[in-house]
Amino acid sequence: MQNHIRQPTPRERVPRLAIDAVGLSKAFGNQAALTGLDLAVPEASVTALIGPNGSGKTTTVRILATLMAPDAGRATVFGHDVVAEPEAVRAAIGVTGQFSAVDKILTGRENLALMARLHHMPRAVAKERIARNLERFELAEAADRPVTTYSGGMRRRLDLAMTLMGEPRIVFLDEPTTGLDPRGRQVLWRIVRDLVADGVTILLTTQYLEEADRLADRVALIDRGALVAEGTPSELKKRAPGGRIRLHFAEDDALAAAVLEFNGAKLSEDGLSLELARDGSVAGIRQVLDRLERLGINVESLSAQPPDLDDVFFSLTGSRHEPSTASSSEVA
Ligand SMILES: Nc1ncnc2c1ncn2[C@@H]1O[C@H](COP(=O)(O)OP(=O)(O)OP(=O)(O)O)[C@@H](O)[C@H]1O
Ligand SMILES: [Mg+2]
Repeated sequence: MQNHIRQPTPRERVPRLAIDAVGLSKAFGNQAALTGLDLAVPEASVTALIGPNGSGKTTTVRILATLMAPDAGRATVFGHDVVAEPEAVRAAIGVTGQFSAVDKILTGRENLALMARLHHMPRAVAKERIARNLERFELAEAADRPVTTYSGGMRRRLDLAMTLMGEPRIVFLDEPTTGLDPRGRQVLWRIVRDLVADGVTILLTTQYLEEADRLADRVALIDRGALVAEGTPSELKKRAPGGRIRLHFAEDDALAAAVLEFNGAKLSEDGLSLELARDGSVAGIRQVLDRLERLGINVESLSAQPPDLDDVFFSLTGSRHEPSTASSSEVA
């Protein structure tokens, strides 16, 4: 079972960069949005751009998508400069913005047909792609209803379907799953994985750190317009202090004794368990249990949680992150 180690092809060994940005700066009046951002996105992978509100994620996406020019620095998409060769860049990209671009008076199918015309697609190709995208975004049934009758999640999916009509080599998704229910989110994750398997490069922004963790090959964390950390989710987690051990007690006396013993531990909101800042390693857990045993404190159960991307986010940006509805984040 261990024998399936495949030799990487030369191309995999040296991943090509789909996006290569160096020193991007952008200000709006005296409001700095980007302050020298570096970003490298390997081809055929998912990179998640995360950062606090206002840290410059959308600005980055807009510059890379040629919708806005940087004040300084330079960026290439598949080797084409976003300022000097915008047409070549546009030919390669698809963009779904933070705010929906669908025409609400038209039906879903008509919106897709509009995209087909913008891409000068032959009729037969258009027909096939429209059907395929309606199908994969689970919009086939609603295809001939005006978008005014769609739910928010359906509009979001249609938006994405429109982006994919041109079969871009690289797709920018700005908060693609905001407002989607868990099922809609999974549909999107599946599509992203399928696209990457077909060699498409994805740059997405998200406020759901669990989503970045699950979906992204690499995560770029930005703060105040500059890159503060970059790597695979597990590389980043190793850099974060964090992780928790949670102790549950059956008796109030035991809990009270533990509170005294573990000075600085956090009491859960329901007042029934105690949270210790530990890395959750076996050695760490053993140490805590030994200490409780020596004192004769009965612990009913214990759960350990390694550092997650929320911990990375907090420790490297020092800013508050709205806990996502998608994650079972324990950070209060
Ligand atoms: N068109 C604009 N005019 C003026 N200021 C702008 C404009 N666009 C962005 N900004 C400012 O630039 C900074 C970065 O904004 P940006 O939209 O890139 O952040 P973001 O990381 O996408 O935030 P969010 O998580 O809220 O979507 C913010 O301070 C914002 O107020
Ligand atoms: Mg944004």
